[in-house]
Amino acid sequence: MVTPMHLDPDDEKILAGEQGETRQKMLELLVALGKVFGAKRLVRIRSAQVSGASYKTIGEYGLAWLSGLHARAVVPAVLNPIGMPRERWQEMDVEPAFAKRQQEVITAYERLGVNLDCTCTPYYLHKTSFGDHLAWSESSAVSYANSVIGARTNREGGPGALAAALIGKTPCYGLHLEKNRNPQVIIEVQPDEKNWSIARYGALGYHAGKLVGNKIPYFRGITPKPDQLKALGAAMAATGAVALYHVEDVTPEAKKNRYNLSSLEVIAIEPAEIDELFTEIPVDAVAVGCPHCSPAELVDIARLLEGKIVTTPFYVFAAQGVINNNQKTVDAIEKSGARVFADTCMVVSPVMERYSAIMVNSGKAFAYVPDMCGAVARIGTIEDCVAVATS
Ligand code: F3S
Repeated sequence: MVTPMHLDPDDEKILAGEQGETRQKMLELLVALGKVFGAKRLVRIRSAQVSGASYKTIGEYGLAWLSGLHARAVVPAVLNPIGMPRERWQEMDVEPAFAKRQQEVITAYERLGVNLDCTCTPYYLHKTSFGDHLAWSESSAVSYANSVIGARTNREGGPGALAAALIGKTPCYGLHLEKNRNPQVIIEVQPDEKNWSIARYGALGYHAGKLVGNKIPYFRGITPKPDQLKALGAAMAATGAVALYHVEDVTPEAKKNRYNLSSLEVIAIEPAEIDELFTEIPVDAVAVGCPHCSPAELVDIARLLEGKIVTTPFYVFAAQGVINNNQKTVDAIEKSGARVFADTCMVVSPVMERYSAIMVNSGKAFAYVPDMCGAVARIGTIEDCVAVATS
């Protein structure tokens, strides 16, 4: 017998249609999701991150659905990257017909009270803390929130995250519950790494995601910093379905909890398995910022480009808020001819489909570029990316 979900009196009023049809339908959606996954209650969320914002992925049907909704977000909510920069789409050579439809999607979300930051790194813009419950959609953001910050979110579909933003709650199941956050497999990285690049952590995640699928891995033998954790988790979410991972003595729950690991399967990863992903194929574009660049990554790119001129198209992607707060660094990058674009990325923008081979420094982009852009992908360090783009 299915246990009914507990709803408070305000929820019952919403379900009865007292706050309009959209809120009624959105809560019905959350309750239905909760029933499917056995949630006993809803939990209040601190923020939402809504996917399904690129016209490339939602098309006419998604736009029509959004346009028929009438409510406002009650918690801070941001969008996933869209198909073009909102302000500089002409500069990225986006087709005007696509830009018009993309703008309509954005306007529909704006009307719903969703903040128009279109980014997979909302944690750089809105404070997110250990233990916060969230309803985030984009897989790398979900991984970072759960693993690096210690917040709690399932990987929401676009409609589920939007419903959560409009209601302020999400069904409490899966990774919202402590008991479901324990490690399920150990990954031993041999030998103990020193000075690994962000790209190398991305490559490790690319490989590890294929090995662990949707399990929660517990890493030993690595000591990544936040940008490296971001790359590791993003890639594992792409080649596997990893929404949470732990790193011994590094990530917050691994430091706080005493896990009993004795019965877990141990997978060893040798350096050669990572090395073989790095090739030297020729490329006709270079794209970095997957997930969107942190301020520190922008500084690094500016340093590497200093005094150089880009000869191969070089795209850098970051959240608009991060760009605004680091304008001098962005100007220094663009002095080389590289372009720093907000709101979009090498995977969701149709512009990248014009290239036949794209170099990235991200394990996630390395996994997605072939299918999403129809291009061959090459992974390299940021130093290699700059060298190729300016050679
Ligand atoms: Fe973000 Fe696009 Fe990569 S959404 S994680 S930059 S594929």
